[in-house]
Amino acid sequence: MTAFATASVTAPLQLFDFHPVLADFRSAVLQGLSQTPKRIPATWLYDQRGAELFDQITALEEYYLTRTEMQILQERAVEIGDRITQGALVEFGSGSSQKIRILFDALRAKGKALPVYVGLDISKQHLQQSCEDLQRDYPELAAIAICADYTQPLRLPDVPVLQNRHKTAFFPGSTLGNLEPEDAIAFLKTVAHLIGPGGDLLIGIDLQKSKSILEPAYDDAQGISAQFALNVLTRMNRELGANFDLAQFRYEAVYNEALGRIEMYIVSQIAQTVEVAGEAIAFAAGERLYTEHSYKYTPAQFNQLAAQAGFRTRSVWTDSQALFMVVDLATCP
Ligand SMILES: C[S@@+](CC[C@H](N)C(=O)[O-])C[C@H]1O[C@@H](n2cnc3c(N)ncnc32)[C@H](O)[C@@H]1O
Repeated sequence: MTAFATASVTAPLQLFDFHPVLADFRSAVLQGLSQTPKRIPATWLYDQRGAELFDQITALEEYYLTRTEMQILQERAVEIGDRITQGALVEFGSGSSQKIRILFDALRAKGKALPVYVGLDISKQHLQQSCEDLQRDYPELAAIAICADYTQPLRLPDVPVLQNRHKTAFFPGSTLGNLEPEDAIAFLKTVAHLIGPGGDLLIGIDLQKSKSILEPAYDDAQGISAQFALNVLTRMNRELGANFDLAQFRYEAVYNEALGRIEMYIVSQIAQTVEVAGEAIAFAAGERLYTEHSYKYTPAQFNQLAAQAGFRTRSVWTDSQALFMVVDLATCP
């Protein structure tokens, strides 16, 4: 269980800091590189540069996910606003906290109270900046930032402003798709425990669709997705004293239709040995280093997954082309 008692608290934004230490990155990298196939968990893609590049991806023409989810939220903002006003809203993987602004603006337009906001993300600087920007733009907002890994056991800080409030978890961006289905169920169970009986989970889920739409969304013409993935090599060079030559690697995104997921790889262009944290790591020519996957669900598949974690579906909202859905789930009493 995360020990909130030892967290550092920074005024005026309350920041509870559980950013992983360098030793965690080192051991995750060395463990991942010793596997077959080699892999780096997607969590480590989001250093400050990775977070900036991800924000650029969200604005790309090919990346339909962000604009579609925002359009759905816009259309349902008043209805959702009624469910979250005066409660506490915990956003997981909050990133630049753009989507929550749609709901805050709808509440403001109706003269209703904003919920207490908790942003939770692994990318500390980005989290802090995004929460401070929210506080600047919504001065009436009570905001708390938690820098933590949401795949680890979590609990909310024991602060008066969060007590006796209805809790909504917000998990946009189809980020759940980065988890293997069994890990997604475990994560949803953690969320259910955190928001308690009667709590809501508002979650964005990318729907299954043709590979002609999916592959360009994850491998755009400008090469920003490639820069995002390859940035983890730069991070290893900087933080772990590695000596990756980025020119000798390329990026690949492939839709695995059988598993219903996009798979993202860094591919070694030649046979080479790279030093990482003092260890020699050999790559064969064409060998893939697995960085990330993104599962795409049908509504029925997701419904089943959520039910296994103890949630029942309250509302499902989608767009006219059925590209994406936003689902409101409630914890079963
Ligand atoms: C796909 S982005 C989505 C960002 C934003 N919520 C959106 O909808 O555009 C995933 C976000 O989750 C964060 N993240 C990834 N793995 C995480 C983890 N294990 N714990 C906490 N945050 C994580 C990243 O830093 C990033 O901000």
